[in-house]
Amino acid sequence: MTHLHITSWALGLILLIIAFVMYRKGSKAGKILHMILRLDYLLILYSGGDLIAEYARIGFPSFPLLGELIVKIIAGLWVIVAMEMILVKTSKSKPATSFWIQLIIALLIAIILGFFRLPISM
Ligand code: HEM
Repeated sequence: MTHLHITSWALGLILLIIAFVMYRKGSKAGKILHMILRLDYLLILYSGGDLIAEYARIGFPSFPLLGELIVKIIAGLWVIVAMEMILVKTSKSKPATSFWIQLIIALLIAIILGFFRLPISM
């Protein structure tokens, strides 16, 4: 499931960049890629949810990194919100700088905790 999780968020970032460029160019492809990205959110949520279920199997109460796990999940959700807001703002030709900053912060937190702190690894 970690492979699906990593693939789905990496695909999401690629779709975000291409959809952003297409929206800026005024191309219709932006809207289509945005819709595909929204389907990809479901994949990110499904694979993330399955990883949470894996922790549920291991047992949360005895889990010493519970705080990190909770922050990781919030950061992951925050990445999705920031991606969506970037494209909504850009599609209306409004600036999205604050959401790009939020995306970078949330992404760094999710990646550092996911790869370097939390134990379920590839
Ligand atoms: C697009 C946003 C997201 C990014 C960039 C991201 C990033 C990551 C990374 C790098 C890992 C480590 C994978 C590994 O070690 O094999 C991971 C694991 C995980 N993610 Fe996400 N994630 C995101 C969204 C989510 C969401 C929305 C949820 C919850 C619904 C979630 C829940 C988890 C869980 C429970 C793990 C297992 C932690 C572990 O490594 O032990 N993630 N994520």
